[in-house]
Amino acid sequence: MAKELWKPGNMLYPLPVVMVSMTDANGRHNIITIGWAGTVCTNPPMVSISVRPERYSYSILKETREFVINLTTKELVYATDYCGVKSGRDVDKFHELQLVPMTAEKVNAPLIAESPVNIECKVRDIIPLGSHDLFWRTWWRCTRMRNIWMKSINFI
Ligand SMILES: Cc1cc2nc3c(=O)[nH]c(=O)nc-3n(C[C@H](O)[C@H](O)[C@H](O)COP(=O)(O)O)c2cc1C
Repeated sequence: MAKELWKPGNMLYPLPVVMVSMTDANGRHNIITIGWAGTVCTNPPMVSISVRPERYSYSILKETREFVINLTTKELVYATDYCGVKSGRDVDKFHELQLVPMTAEKVNAPLIAESPVNIECKVRDIIPLGSHDLFWRTWWRCTRMRNIWMKSINFI
């Protein structure tokens, strides 16, 4: 079978898209949509996200080194898109989207109550890669909605 040669690029699909929530030093919450997210180790359980240094969220994450990965659903599609095109520099995304911030157990960053699965993370290391810096973390705690069948959730 004939094969075509393509230039190097990001060809891995499908991609999980997540909403990453955080709190800055003044107690202000923000959410950024992240496509460059993935599992990097089973034991200890580790995940990574890659964030461009020019993002408003970048300096918050770098300073606080804590955040929550919130999985998204069909019902959260609009919010997921909004958090990926609007900046926390200009808007309070929790307020604009009427999302409910919930207190996390292990980190100073809010869970998004409407998200069915929330993963609390502490940054272990930050690796500059080029366009993005990779935030590499151990997750501390994972919560999910009570009394909900995972099968009934429309993950995206
Ligand atoms: C589907 C989607 C995936 C995205 N993935 C990333 C990503 O992996 N890393 C990143 O730095 N920005 C990513 N972005 C862009 C940021 O989410 C966007 O610039 C956002 O407005 C930044 O918010 P902030 O200024 O409040 O930090 C993505 C946007 C969308 C819509």
